[in-house]
Amino acid sequence: MHAGTEQRVRADLERFRAEGVYKRLNHLESPQGPRVRMEGRGEVLILSSNNYLGLSGAADVVAAGKQALDRFGAGTASVRFICGTFTIHRELERALAAFVGTEASLSSVSCWNANEGLFATLLGPDDIVISDQLNHASIIDAMRLAKAISKCETAVYRHSDMADLEAKLRAAQDRRTRIVVTDGIFSMEGDIAKLPDIVDLARRYDALVVMDDSHATGVLGQTGRGTAEHFGLLGQVDVITSTLGKALGGAAGGFAASSAAVCDFLTQRARPQLFSNALPCTVAGSALAAVRHLEARPELVLRLHQNARYFREQLLARGFKPLAGETPIIPVILGETAAAIRMSEMLLDEGVFVTGFGYPVVPQGEARVRCQVSAGHTRDDLDRALAAFDTVGRRLGLV
Ligand SMILES: Cc1ncc(COP(=O)(O)O)c(C=O)c1O
Repeated sequence: MHAGTEQRVRADLERFRAEGVYKRLNHLESPQGPRVRMEGRGEVLILSSNNYLGLSGAADVVAAGKQALDRFGAGTASVRFICGTFTIHRELERALAAFVGTEASLSSVSCWNANEGLFATLLGPDDIVISDQLNHASIIDAMRLAKAISKCETAVYRHSDMADLEAKLRAAQDRRTRIVVTDGIFSMEGDIAKLPDIVDLARRYDALVVMDDSHATGVLGQTGRGTAEHFGLLGQVDVITSTLGKALGGAAGGFAASSAAVCDFLTQRARPQLFSNALPCTVAGSALAAVRHLEARPELVLRLHQNARYFREQLLARGFKPLAGETPIIPVILGETAAAIRMSEMLLDEGVFVTGFGYPVVPQGEARVRCQVSAGHTRDDLDRALAAFDTVGRRLGLV
């Protein structure tokens, strides 16, 4: 390794440790689930995973992955347009489109890639993308990339501030295409985009709506179809991107769902589609089974909603101040990064794994522990977690 770089990197790592912001990775020895076995700790309750519906361990989802492995082999060995497209990709893409309410969809190895491929492909120098300030990092980077590759303009509106969005749209009336992009559920806050207002503004200013529903797919709406279902707006969002790495099996992978023409255009031109391998068939098989599983069992979503409501209410009753909201993402703001990491470590000592998030994942001074409940948590699991919050909260003088 180049000596100067090695020295600089080591010094930075040392500083992270000294400042209490170093992230220690915890190794799991069992499948992901509400309760896991963690190396060196034994059984731990997980309140920090995106496995919202518990499907990563569902027998039919696991079996479908194995079947796809047997049928299609370990690797796609190619990008889509060369020879990396398999029949299971087509089946998955049809199922995903039907599920989120669009004409078509296109899978990719991650939602990060789906976002990265979108703006740079759809937009040109006469166009603009206008983004919520708290959108996910993959959207922020996708916009930076689009600006560099396709020379489009970019703008940011204050978080969920519709007056600011309208001002940005008004200022962009001379652009050929205006895209408004928002997360469905904001991953660090747990709040829901004001989709009805966004769709309305987009109509008035002749803009497209792109929504990253990664945390909302399988989570929002009575049957888990996401933010559009939650607001009764299925079919009203121009492009939905989402991940297969959370509620839909939790392995990896993502997709963009839109009209058949847009999906075809992305197939033709999106650089991650042209230069990066296709989604592994095992993952496609599991994700397809996850969609089918959820379609047959909408009661899972109801259980998730009930668990989220219970945990939020009980935190409040115990004197904690979780951010207001109605999703399974329940953040408790602590301030400094070191405080969030400290609380997370103390909770882990009590057998509850809740990750602390600090800068640069969230703004300076807004570090937090972020709880994520799942449909798989029993009432007893949630009560155990709450008891750990009580103990740690009292020790830290928070309650
Ligand atoms: C809103 C949002 N978009 C995109 C992603 C990235 O998804 P993937 O892991 O499929 O790249 C995430 C994951 O954290 C996310 O929360």
